[in-house]
This record gives sequence, structure tokens and C-alpha cells, in this order.
Amino acid sequence: MKLQPVNQNNMLDNHHAYAVGMSGCGKTSAAKKLFVNPTDQVIIFDPLNDYQGKLAGRVVRSYSNLRDFAVAVIAGRKTKQGFKIAYYPKRETTEEDFDRFCSIAWGVGDGKHAKPLKVICEEVAEHSHTTGKATGYHGKLLRLGRKYNIHTINMFQRGQEVSKTIIDNCQYACVMMQKADDSAHYIQRKTGIPASEVIPLAKLEYILQDGKQWKKGVIHW
Ligand SMILES: Nc1ncnc2c1ncn2[C@@H]1O[C@H](COP(=O)(O)OP(=O)(O)O)[C@@H](O)[C@H]1O
Ligand SMILES: [Mg+2]
Repeated sequence: MKLQPVNQNNMLDNHHAYAVGMSGCGKTSAAKKLFVNPTDQVIIFDPLNDYQGKLAGRVVRSYSNLRDFAVAVIAGRKTKQGFKIAYYPKRETTEEDFDRFCSIAWGVGDGKHAKPLKVICEEVAEHSHTTGKATGYHGKLLRLGRKYNIHTINMFQRGQEVSKTIIDNCQYACVMMQKADDSAHYIQRKTGIPASEVIPLAKLEYILQDGKQWKKGVIHW
């Protein structure tokens, strides 16, 4: 039987985020540097082993077996301590792997937990088949996760390739270097950030939007 989240809390705010931009523009860097703090409880869908080593100064525990990953996450959520736990299957990953990962995130949601659960979702377009409504547990996280203290951080290369549920349900957008002007115009339509601001972005430069407001910045390693 699948775990279910507890303590639905409609008072909680939306903290979902996404980072969009071409390969190598700095999306993973943004997830690490802009969206994660040392004491956070964080789980990561990490198909490419990008999170080996440390995240926000804390050691990432990585599991290739989903059951072992789930046991570690459930144990972590029983505490108020920060943790960084990754699911890295060490093989070609599928949509089903991503859905199962999201089902574990969903199952440890808790609207009364002292800490939110941050859920880093890498390469979302590669692991979902629809640009319509987000399906499965990822869709659940985006639409209902807020009430269970779940903050997703979604990474993808082109906005056009992923479900509209993501862009429409995220409070924060980290817009990075786009490969084509077409993608910059799509972002303008979805966020209101002028394409003329998006097109000149270089590697590790970003525009961070919170609600409707936005500001520019650069990630430093
Ligand atoms: N651990 C690191 N140390 C120093 N620079 C890094 C590190 N990780 C990434 N970078 C820099 O950030 C750039 C963007 O990488 P990344 O964030 O992985 O992009 P993306 O996720 O968009 O493909 C890299 O080309 C590299 O210059
Ligand atoms: Mg990346």
C-alpha cells in the first residue's frame, strides 16, 4: 500500500519553483545555490548523479535502490533534522522511476511538520510524457503538495516541453539562458518577463521571479 500525506493544512503558502534553460546554463547550480539551505530536508531525483558529494555544505546520501531510498526518507522525516537524500538509480531512468520517486515524496508530506520537504526534480521533460496537465504523483505534488508542506524544485530545458501545471503552479521561476528565441518568447507569455531580458542571458545568469516580480542575478561557484 502506498503511503499517504497527513495533516492537510490549507494555510501553507505555495513554494514550488522551477528553473528553465538549455543544457549547461546553470539549472542544477541554481537548485543548489538559490533554493537549498544547510538545515533543509531535501530529497532529489538525480538521474545523472549531479548531487554526489555535498549540497548546501551537507553530505548527500545517495541510493540506487528505491526501497532503500524510501526507508531513509521516512526515517529522516521522523526527525526535525535537515537531510539531503538522493535517488540515483545508476541506469537509464524512466517516467515510472520518476513517478515512484514522486509517490514517496507525496507519502511523507505533512502539513504540520516543522520543516518543509524540498523535492528536487531533475530533467522533468525527460521523465514525463505530456505537455498538458501533469499526471501521476508529480502532478499531485504540484497541485496539492503545498498543503502538505512540500516544495518542489523542477528543472527542464524548454518550457514548451513540460506540463503547463508546472509553470502555472510555481511561485518561483528561475529563468536562465535559452537556446532559441522561440523559448524566450514562450517564457514571456507564461511569466510576463520580456523576451528582450531573457535572450541576452549568459551561462549562470538568471532572472528570478517571485509571483510577478523579478530580479536579475548571477550564480557564483
Ligand atoms: N561543482 C561545481 N563547481 C564549479 N562550477 C560548477 C559546479 N557545478 C556546475 N558548475 C558550473 O556551472 C555550469 C552549469 O552547470 P549546471 O548547473 O550543471 O547546468 P545545467 O543543470 O543547466 O545543465 C557548468 O558549466 C560549470 O561551469
Ligand atoms: Mg542540470
